[in-house]
Amino acid sequence: MKGYRMGWQNWFSLRKKRFDALDQDHEDVVPRLSIGRNRDRQDDKLPKFQGTAGDQIRSTGKRTALDRVRFHMRNAFTPSQPVLSHRMFAGRTEVLKTLIRSIEDQRLHVVLYGDRGIGKTSLLHILAQLARDARYIVRYASCGEETHFSDLMRSIARDIPLLYHADYAPTSSEIENGRSLGDLLPEGTLTVPQISDLFSKVSNTRVLVILDEFDRAHSMAFRRSIAELIKNLSDRSSRLQLVIAGVGANLTELIEHIPSIRRNILGYQVPNMSNGEIEELIHNGEKICGLTFDREAIAFISAVAYGSPYIASLLSQHAGLAAVDREASMVEKRDVADAINHSVDEIRHRVSSLSLFQTGRAKADGHGTNLGLLARLALHYGGRLMPHQADEVIRKPGQGLAYMQKMQQDYGLLEPLADDPAGAYHFKEEGVPVYLWIELAQSHFAGEKSNTKLLDALLDKYAVAQNA
Ligand SMILES: Nc1ncnc2c1ncn2[C@@H]1O[C@H](COP(=O)(O)OP(=O)(O)OP(=O)(O)O)[C@@H](O)[C@H]1O
Ligand SMILES: [Mg+2]
Repeated sequence: MKGYRMGWQNWFSLRKKRFDALDQDHEDVVPRLSIGRNRDRQDDKLPKFQGTAGDQIRSTGKRTALDRVRFHMRNAFTPSQPVLSHRMFAGRTEVLKTLIRSIEDQRLHVVLYGDRGIGKTSLLHILAQLARDARYIVRYASCGEETHFSDLMRSIARDIPLLYHADYAPTSSEIENGRSLGDLLPEGTLTVPQISDLFSKVSNTRVLVILDEFDRAHSMAFRRSIAELIKNLSDRSSRLQLVIAGVGANLTELIEHIPSIRRNILGYQVPNMSNGEIEELIHNGEKICGLTFDREAIAFISAVAYGSPYIASLLSQHAGLAAVDREASMVEKRDVADAINHSVDEIRHRVSSLSLFQTGRAKADGHGTNLGLLARLALHYGGRLMPHQADEVIRKPGQGLAYMQKMQQDYGLLEPLADDPAGAYHFKEEGVPVYLWIELAQSHFAGEKSNTKLLDALLDKYAVAQNA
């Protein structure tokens, strides 16, 4: 009996040893597939995601206050995304007032235009929320090359309950069955008159249709249809209004056939932010991440951002992270200098290799500062560069146009703006001005002795601020 029991014990321990050995071999040769949590994994040396997929900070028990600040930085400044919440939305009170007045009092359709990163989408999101608060039906759509008039209009019509059609009584069974204006449309391609007829029947509500990224819809037919729709809706005092947004140095770039609808629209260029608004953007971020930006840091960010919320947001994010890296809770000028260096690397990746090559050549030929200042002008004036402004940059009266032509012919960086009555130029690639300007800022201000006074002195010297 004893021997028998011993036998079993031996058998168990033998098997265990054999399994251990097998496990070991297995580990060496075939990595285990890990699904979900795997606490045995030997990956302590690897960097970890700080938050969970549910946007919660991961609790490891070792989190310091600065870890928490770092975690909240991603929500405090979002340079790669538009602002969606009131909490983070800075300034723009006057812009919103103008938009609301035009939509509400004048019943105009709106065309909003401005450079990349000036804050169009953020503005539209807030405008949409304000309109929803006033019980408008709001439909936001982002256009692309593939956007078709019929598909877009059909989906908008589906968002409007039949309850708001003038010809249907509130008690009718179709309304009770949850039907929409979309159900009244025929199959197949839709024409502008069909859509205008339908939308002119909207009653007892107001509908705001927001078409963002309109410049990405290249189809002439699509743009023409939208222009005709605006004309028809205005003529019939429809309760559906359009807000169109896109990049474009002027309105005609955004909507051809503009003469026929000029009376019916508000064309509005989103202005650069004031320094006060940039400061508000930084203070909003401070409240979310828990860091404080000192006066010099704020002045430095405002000076380099020069009214661009995108640049301000990018620099604030990097500067905040630089402060956390040195375990400080106060963001200082040196952190902003550090941020400029980081931002240049990040922005460089967004420029095509051809433009990088050409700007490299131009800089090697001594045009770096002039191009940086032209870029800054372009950022300030919605991309439009006038010959007399170029005169100021190169400090040679009457020679600005020739200089811009040289930048076009020798380096392919600029080109004349199509149909511009004043003969303005613009940078051929839209990401280039931000890159050139930040790089100029880096070369002048991100060094050890960086000083915003230097920036002011440089700007005064070129008299650019006078026209700002
Ligand atoms: N009013 C604002 N308050 C705070 N941050 C803002 C504001 N407006 C814009 N931003 C920031 O600026 C950046 C650019 O904003 P947004 O995406 O709205 O610009 P855009 O004009 O739509 O750009 P694009 O032409 O590339 O679509 C984002 O990082 C956003 O967070
Ligand atoms: Mg946008």
